[in-house]
Amino acid sequence: MKNDLEAFWMPFTANRQFKKNPRMFVGANGMHYSTSEGKKVLDGTAGLWCCNAGHARPKITEAVQRQVVELDYAPAFQIGHPGAFELSNRLAALAPDPLNHVFFTNSGSESVETALKIALAYHQAKGNGRKTRLIGRERGYHGVNFGGISVGGIVNNRNSFGHLLSGVDHLPHTHLPSQNAFSKGQPEHGAHLAEHLTDIIALHGAETVAAVIVEPIAGSTGVLVPPYGYLERLREITAQHDILLIFDEVITGFGRIGSAFAANHFGVTPDMITCAKGLTNGVIPMGAVIASREIHDAFMNGPEHLIELFHGYTYSGNPIASAAALATLDTYQEEGLFDRVGDLYGLWQEGLHSLADHSKVIDVRSYGLIGAIELEPLAGQATKRAFSAFLSAFERGVLIRTTGDIIALSPPLIINEAQIEEIFDVLRTVLKEIE
Ligand SMILES: Cc1ncc(COP(=O)(O)O)c(C=O)c1O
Repeated sequence: MKNDLEAFWMPFTANRQFKKNPRMFVGANGMHYSTSEGKKVLDGTAGLWCCNAGHARPKITEAVQRQVVELDYAPAFQIGHPGAFELSNRLAALAPDPLNHVFFTNSGSESVETALKIALAYHQAKGNGRKTRLIGRERGYHGVNFGGISVGGIVNNRNSFGHLLSGVDHLPHTHLPSQNAFSKGQPEHGAHLAEHLTDIIALHGAETVAAVIVEPIAGSTGVLVPPYGYLERLREITAQHDILLIFDEVITGFGRIGSAFAANHFGVTPDMITCAKGLTNGVIPMGAVIASREIHDAFMNGPEHLIELFHGYTYSGNPIASAAALATLDTYQEEGLFDRVGDLYGLWQEGLHSLADHSKVIDVRSYGLIGAIELEPLAGQATKRAFSAFLSAFERGVLIRTTGDIIALSPPLIINEAQIEEIFDVLRTVLKEIE
């Protein structure tokens, strides 16, 4: 063996660079990670947008410990356990009405596949079997499975993997830097981009279109906030044509922008919400699709002994994941964490926009406790500048995330004012230091 880091093929990682100079976390508590070298690193990204309540939260830890002793696993098919039912009710209460039925998965990617499959099967159940076309959006991220990368629009995630799903089309993305750069909150321009959906529908015929899937705020592509009126218009057009609207809320769910879901926050109710990440505070893999009553009920026909939807995972609604999720929702509620986003928003925006006049910065975008700082790429070396920023920030004890040449920030909602200032102080130094 070359070295003991060799065997692990790391996901979405520059493996060779990493293994020459590894960055290892060995502990986490509250707002901080600790490294194998004994250094503390302030978590500016809630892990991977998932640890919304911070790390090592006692209620969640204890719930997992209790559950693993009491009932470690129950078969997910044809048998239940109380936790999954209780959690479904809690999620249904958090989601906007009439989204009140929950199908459990183990990740955001699986939630997306599940929602797409439910959309197709729903139309078939209603006798509209020709409605099979799926519409995503350029720059969209919907996980890494075949359905998700087919409707997704991040080029590198798609272009090594063959033909993908057929019958997929894409809306244009909503990034309009010449009009919207340095917007605070929702940008003014771009609602008209939703009209492209009308063109796509006209091209293929509404009777062939099953669903539209978008992230209310596109996260992984580098934070694209929906222009005023854009989501509302998507909802109007989809409703007009009996096309399901799916909000992929894997990032925006669970308080990230101050509400349980972006759907609640923007006042736009889709037919399905996909979620994961913050559902268990990142502690145990779990995802969910929250579907409308109408979608669910369309399946509840035929003889009662027959399975209504031929879909599910060995770990759907796993008891330990359910316990972690219930304790996570309690923690969010007891500590009023979703409300903290509104309290911190002013300072958060101020910090982000204090970097706006730096010569290397070409845009700053923000919403809720999310921020993006887009850097001018180095000539002929796309992504290098942002990656240097990531390494430099890490050296200085702050975890940031980069995608392309964009720095993305999404700290746990327990962050305090001094820690917000620390992130931006470090970034100011980083921007000066990097090439
Ligand atoms: C909007 C969205 N959908 C889906 C996913 C995929 O989630 P997972 O990595 O849990 O499969 C992500 C992950 O970042 C995401 O941001």
